[in-house]
Amino acid sequence: MKRNLNSIKETFTINQQQHYVKKNINYQFPLEISHFSYDENRVVSVNDRSGLKYFYEPEKNSDLNSGFPDLFIKREPKLEHLDSLIKCLFEVNTNLKKVNKSVYAPNFCTWRGIIRSLMVTPYFPKDSWELNIISFDNTIFMEENETLERKAASYGETEKEVKMSYYGYKFENIATISKPPSDLKKNDQELTDRNSEAVNTNVQYCSVWKSSLGTNSMILGGEVDCLYSENLVEHNHQKHYAELKTNKVFQHSWQRKSFERYKLLKVWAQSYLAGVPTVIIGFRSDEGILKFVKTYKTVEIPSMVNSWNPHVCLGFLDSILNFIKTNLEDVNDATQIYKLKYDSLQPHAIKLEGPIAAENNLCFLPQYFVNEVSQ
Ligand code: A3P
Ligand code: MG
Ligand code: MG
Repeated sequence: MKRNLNSIKETFTINQQQHYVKKNINYQFPLEISHFSYDENRVVSVNDRSGLKYFYEPEKNSDLNSGFPDLFIKREPKLEHLDSLIKCLFEVNTNLKKVNKSVYAPNFCTWRGIIRSLMVTPYFPKDSWELNIISFDNTIFMEENETLERKAASYGETEKEVKMSYYGYKFENIATISKPPSDLKKNDQELTDRNSEAVNTNVQYCSVWKSSLGTNSMILGGEVDCLYSENLVEHNHQKHYAELKTNKVFQHSWQRKSFERYKLLKVWAQSYLAGVPTVIIGFRSDEGILKFVKTYKTVEIPSMVNSWNPHVCLGFLDSILNFIKTNLEDVNDATQIYKLKYDSLQPHAIKLEGPIAAENNLCFLPQYFVNEVSQ
């Protein structure tokens, strides 16, 4: 049957986990190509590391409730699409063109969080997701299908959920400082201020990197929480990046198992994708008192657990990226949106459909970018 060109309705069938263990699937070590920071008002600056902090051991028994809820500044729920990532890529490519070098033209361009959601799907069958996809100029751009309502609720709906989310951000504040630890003076004011200043989720530092998995090249962007070393070799910040998380202290062995099965899988995937070598977890009591901090090496995490296999994640990711690329290879249109949907009620199928009606006005690539590339 002749298919209307560009009209797609395809299903990817999810097999058993072991099916995805493939030989020779290699995730190339991610290489940072640029970075950017958002300030307190969510203004973005490319090539700016002002949002990148240094880890500095927090005080034991710090109260993660402190400042809640009055000093919790949550960023406005706004659909940000891939704007900062594309701005960054655009600037990098503009500079490459100026010196007659070839520009980055990856098969995929998206946030790291999207790739992480895809790769952990075999282990999180209850987590549904839906992506918007544009195939344009030989690159597949993917974003989460967000709504303002969902964004507004992303800190949790009940007061308890919002507080749990606050704990995570508060830990980021009390475990970091803005200058290298070697520059700290005795009784430095910064050590007092970091405990009492507002938790502002507008502020973020993001790295942008290139990598590839199998035959698929990608440019990804993602938040990095801090640096874990003061012996910085200029141009090699990436080697010292660290991811901060919080978790409840284990009181029962099932809590440890659940931590390994769910949280460590997600934090491993997130850090591995970005080439972040260190994960630092602040363990807290039920009441939000910080008890101790534990550091993990990202490369060692898979061998510490037996409830998941990183090769399943990478093999699955390879299969789903190939599925997307194969089906969209004839599409080159910045105005056509395709949907990739995983619905936990149908846990064996991922559906790719589209294009969706243009009146939905979901085109999420910035116009300046489309114009430049179309020239
Ligand atoms: P924890 O991961 O320690 O729980 P990130 O680790 O990605 O840098 O995020 C920092 C903190 O923001 C998280 O800390 C968590 O508290 C909060 N957070 C991030 N994403 C969230 C989400 N989808 N829902 C609720 N809180 C979230
Ligand atoms: Mg963070
Ligand atoms: Mg973090």
